[in-house]
Amino acid sequence: MGELVNDYRRIADRLADDIAEGRLRPGERLPPQRAFARRHGIAGSTAGRVYAELVRRGLVVGEVGRGTFVRASPAGPGGERGIVESATSAPVNLELNYPSAPGQSELLAPGLAPLLRPDVLTEALRPAAVAGTPAAREAAAGLLATPGWRPAPERFLFTGNARQAIAAALASLVRPGGRVGVEALTYPVVKEIAARLGITLVPLATDEGGMCPGAVAAAHRAAPLSALYVQPTLHNPTSLTMSGDRRHRLARTVEELNLPVVEDRIWSFLADPPDAEPLAALAPGLTHVVDGLSKRVAPGLTVGLLVVPPHRTDEVAAAVRSGGWSAGRFAVEAAVRWLADGTVDRLVAAKRADAEGRQRIVAEELRGFRVRSDPRAYYAWWELPAPWRADTFTAAAAAHGIALTPGPAFVVDPHRTPDAVRLGLASAPVPDLRRALRTLADVAARGAAGRSGR
Ligand SMILES: Cc1ncc(COP(=O)(O)O)c(C=O)c1O
Repeated sequence: MGELVNDYRRIADRLADDIAEGRLRPGERLPPQRAFARRHGIAGSTAGRVYAELVRRGLVVGEVGRGTFVRASPAGPGGERGIVESATSAPVNLELNYPSAPGQSELLAPGLAPLLRPDVLTEALRPAAVAGTPAAREAAAGLLATPGWRPAPERFLFTGNARQAIAAALASLVRPGGRVGVEALTYPVVKEIAARLGITLVPLATDEGGMCPGAVAAAHRAAPLSALYVQPTLHNPTSLTMSGDRRHRLARTVEELNLPVVEDRIWSFLADPPDAEPLAALAPGLTHVVDGLSKRVAPGLTVGLLVVPPHRTDEVAAAVRSGGWSAGRFAVEAAVRWLADGTVDRLVAAKRADAEGRQRIVAEELRGFRVRSDPRAYYAWWELPAPWRADTFTAAAAAHGIALTPGPAFVVDPHRTPDAVRLGLASAPVPDLRRALRTLADVAARGAAGRSGR
């Protein structure tokens, strides 16, 4: 018996080495178990135990009838993939999602040139205050203004990026052990931030209009929530934008419950005209707005923006400081210049046009599949045709050198495993995007009964 146990573990170890050293590549299909057993001169049941052991170690994914594939990247401790860093070396990356407009660096360079003068540089290399500078606050207030909302400059705080702004807002609002309501599908990094802060995320029902106010109230009654994290405009990953009516109802609910809100508006710049009424305009005493320049400008030299309710400035500023989430002064100074000289406006216009062009490619290449998106968004949520599952499809895509994000990365409830993937359209060059989508459509159709209506 002991011999047998060692036998299958030894074989599993060898395969694990092959995966670690790249002899078996992400997405590659392992032979059917019977063929594997024959090749190694072992019993079929032993081969089954080898494969089960590899699944247990998170190295492969498998399904009866469809084969066993090497995972796109090793699973994390919770069986979950890290989605930001994992597959960045894949030749076509539909996982990372940072747009870059044609000619972007040429547009950005003139704004940086004055910063290289020694006297200006001396100032730009000093520590940044959490509240930025008067010029930065004014510029940021102008940037985020919409037809129905103009944040006051003195309500701004600056962080390194939007993720840090989310972390600071949540850290200031929620004690370890506290509960935060989120859309049932949510931005995956929020899950990681919450885990690090000891916060429990509570998935709340959404419908075609977005987060359901009734679900917020019910969850709060069951056990008090300390905050909501919500994306009302061009929600990542579904692209949904809440209607005015839904925003008003949600705002009324949070006012009634006195429930603070973290409103993530990082993708709202793609909406043209901008959505008139952020939640911040409807529940100003409760709403903390998160935004930033990583998507509008570039992730490599960016700042995160926080607009906080008047009475919360000190607490959120303290969270920014103690988390070490302050913006770098050089980035703040660069942002001020890019905002003042119109560079950000030009980049935003270019990226809106770019996103629309990329959505047209999605519409062409994935015609007939169930794809949820918005012509303005930089992502698409693809509900895969049966019998594909998110993990097997992600592995099959990786075999073609295409990285994408499996749907379960966006869910909080571990019992929900949507058979869907999110396509990030922003980062890949356009010809690569078209080629990758065409390949994915072929892969999907080969495993499926056929395309259904869109
Ligand atoms: C909804 C949402 N919020 C925040 C971020 C992170 O922005 P940043 O790179 O500025 O941290 C992203 C990035 O994809 C996002 O999709």
